This record gives sequence, C-alpha cells and structure tokens, in this order.
Amino acid sequence: MKEKLTHPIFKIVSDCAEERSVPAFVIGGWVRDILLNRPCKDIDFVCLGSGIELAERVAKKLGEDVHVTVYKNFGTANIKYEDLEIEFVGARKESYDRGSRKPVVEDGTLEDDQNRRDFTINAMAISLSPKNYGELIDPFNGIKDLEAKIIRTPLDPDITYSDDPLRMMRAIRFASQLNFQIEKRSFDAIAKNKERIKIVSKERIADELNKIILSPKPSVGFKLLFDSKLLHIIFPQFVLLQGVDYVGSQGHKDNFYHTLEVLDNISLNTDNLWLRWAAVLHDIAKPQTKRFEQGHGWTFHGHEDKGSRMVPKIFAELKLPQNEKMKYVQKLVLLHLRPIVLAKNEVSDSAVRRLLFEAGDDIDDLMMLCDADITSKNPEKVKRYIRNFEIVRVKLKEIEEKDKIRNWQPPITGEIVMKTFGIPPSKKVGIIKDTVREAILDGLIPNEYEKAYEYMLEKGKELGFTAVSNMP
Ligand code: CTP
Repeated sequence: MKEKLTHPIFKIVSDCAEERSVPAFVIGGWVRDILLNRPCKDIDFVCLGSGIELAERVAKKLGEDVHVTVYKNFGTANIKYEDLEIEFVGARKESYDRGSRKPVVEDGTLEDDQNRRDFTINAMAISLSPKNYGELIDPFNGIKDLEAKIIRTPLDPDITYSDDPLRMMRAIRFASQLNFQIEKRSFDAIAKNKERIKIVSKERIADELNKIILSPKPSVGFKLLFDSKLLHIIFPQFVLLQGVDYVGSQGHKDNFYHTLEVLDNISLNTDNLWLRWAAVLHDIAKPQTKRFEQGHGWTFHGHEDKGSRMVPKIFAELKLPQNEKMKYVQKLVLLHLRPIVLAKNEVSDSAVRRLLFEAGDDIDDLMMLCDADITSKNPEKVKRYIRNFEIVRVKLKEIEEKDKIRNWQPPITGEIVMKTFGIPPSKKVGIIKDTVREAILDGLIPNEYEKAYEYMLEKGKELGFTAVSNMP
C-alpha cells in the first residue's frame, strides 16, 4: 500500500510516531476510500499511546501556525491542514452502556481498536512504522468485502449495532452510497435491533438520512430503511405512502414506489439536497387526501397544498432547518402540479406569468421536479407530457424575456396606496395592492408603473377613497 501514501503527511506522522515510540496507523474511511479510488479529505490516525501528544508533535512539524483542537473527554485531537481534516486517537478498547451511545474507554491494542469498529471495510489499517511501512492490516478481510461489495460487521452484528445503533443507519447509508449489499445476518440484526435507534440523536439520524438522499440512487437506501422498518420509526409519514387501495378493480398507484422513482429520476440531474427533499415530499399528503369518487376514480385533491403545509412539522421532527431551505421545499411541493396543469390545457400568457411570479428563481428547479414526476408506464402518455412540457418551457422563456416577471416586485406597494389616499394600514390597502398585482399578472394592464398607478386610483375610488397626493 506504500504507493497510496503519496501525501507528505504520512511520512511526517510516521517520523513523529517513531520519535515517540508509539506505533501509528492510518485507519477507517480513508483506507476504504483509497482502495475504492474515491477522493477522501478526512484522515484518521490511530496510535498505540496518546493520540493527543502525537497530534501536537505532528502540528509542530507541519508549521508554527498549525493549530490542534483537543477533545480531552474523547482522547482525540484534530488538525486542519491544507484541505485535510486529520484526526488522531489512541487505540482503545471500548465497552458500551446500553442506555446511551457513550462508551467506557480503556487503552487497547490495534486489534482491540479494529474490533470495535463498525464494518469490515472500515476496520482496515495501514502501518506507518518503518519496519512495515505501508502494510495493510486487515484482520476481518475487509478487502474481500470491498471487492464483493458487502457490508459486514467485524463482530456479531447484534453486538456491533447494539454498541452504537447509529451504525444501523450507517450500514444502509453505505449500501446506498456505494451500491453494496448488507450481509443477510447483518440486515436481520438491523431489523431486530431497530428500536435501539431511539437512543440516537435526531441530528445524527438526519445526517445519515441526508447522505442517503444524496447518494447516487437513493431508493436503494429508502427500500432498506423500509424493509428493516427503521423508516417506520424515523420517518413514519413517508411509510404511509406505501400500499394500494382498491374499489372494485380500480386501484391507484403505490405512492411510496412512485416517490422513490421520482427521487431517483431527479437525482440523475441534481445534487441539490433540498431539491431532492422536495421530490421526497412532493406527494406526502396523498394518503390524507385520498378519495374515491364515483365515475371519476381515485383523486388526491389538494395534496400539494396540504403537503406543503406538512413540511414545517416534518422538518422540525427530523431536526432539519426551519429557514429558507424549508421554505424552498414548501414552495416546490405547493407548485409541483402547476406546470402539469399548464401542459394539459391551452397555455395562456397569464397562467405562465402567474407561475413565473410564484416560482421566481426556483422555476427551473420546479420544472426539473415536474420532469422527474413523469413515471407513467405508458410510453404514449410519457411522450405527450414531455412534448407539452417543451411547449411550457418555450412559453416560460418567451414570457420571461418579455415581461421580466421572475424576480418581479409589483410596482404598487402598500406604502404607495396609503400615501396616495392618505389612509392608515388596513385590509383595504392590501386589497387595492393585490388587485393591481393580479391585473398585471392577468395581463389586464401592462407591467408599467404609470399604468399600474392609474389602475390603483380607479380601484381606490371604487372603494370610496380619493387621492390626496400626486403620483410620486
Ligand atoms: N466508526 C465506527 N462507528 C461509527 C462511526 C465511525 O466504527 N458509528 C469508525 C469507522 O471505522 C469509520 C471511522 O470510525 O471508518 C471514521 O468515521 P467517520 O469519519 O464518521 O466515517 P467514514 O467511515 O470516514 O465515512 P464518511 O466520511 O462517509 O462518514
């Protein structure tokens, strides 16, 4: 493995370890990733002695301004150097308290340290000692599992998962990220120990869920979460999408698998986590809005509106942000049917203008979501949708070039209305302002200040107001 240790950091750590007589090793994710030819900027070093002291010596060698962050409680130390995130720890033996993820730590051998790691592919180490520099130390044959694409625990999976239940999520996340299979015994242990996930913080679970959503084919991870029933604990709303109801012979589509198809589709075109989240949640309210209407079949009226209103609570429960990222997801869920409706009907300028106004800069993302939402098995239907979407796209471009609605601020503000008619804030101010905006969006009046002002005077008059000042 010597040829893989090209970065100067390895030699520096090796020298410092030799000076202190503490054998050191590269271990964990970096070793896995280098063998998979994946770039990795996180390097973990383990040594048979104090990781903190080794880190301090390494930092000194790297330069005067290199800073070590010490986590005394964990016995670890961290150095940020160039674009690397480097961690040092002393080899340890751990035993766990069942009620928490906090381990009881004692010094140990390299073998003890490898034993307590999560997966065979994450337990490989490379020696940095001069006598066997570059030698791979792989007691659980992780390299074979890497080649066979298998996720397996070094110890009995019941022990490994019970020690740290977050590893159940990690197993599924690695399977989804790397397209690996989870060994059957291991998967059964996840299903059996699933309740233990409850001792893990929501933030860490969300972190893993986001990594699953960002993986090349997220449905792989979601199906494993579903089959192990972890999903039922961490994200129950999503489980409700699964299943098909029938009235007579009429069934609707299974919205769980449909959603996963949409998510996989969109993942081919974007790495934007929040756009992928919009795909996850676009039909989330279908179970609650499902009706069977005689002569019509299954309907989900209002699911986009209800779904959009469900987003804040789901984000809060999952400890996802409550900021503009959430608002973006809400907006896309709310608007996700609009381009389809446009594509079905004669496309009017005003409908396009309205959509541009409501979607703003997110219009391209919305169109991407709608494209991904076409999952019909009927090729004729798919062709028709794609053709109609093309028309909508052309129209969007035309109208945007003409009317510049995308980042548009309506010309008449509440301030202007109040000043013009000399009135205090009230509901009527809002009515006048909105009527003017709607008239522009509907194409009744052009998108020009003067025309809008005149229209405002007219509407004010209708409500019994007279202008007390001239046009500003
Ligand atoms: N590890 C573990 N159990 C955990 C977390 C981590 O055994 N719950 C071990 C694994 O050996 C892992 C190493 O610590 O390889 C480093 O963990 P981390 O940096 O979290 O993950 P990586 O495996 O490097 O992968 P990623 O960076 O993709 O999270």
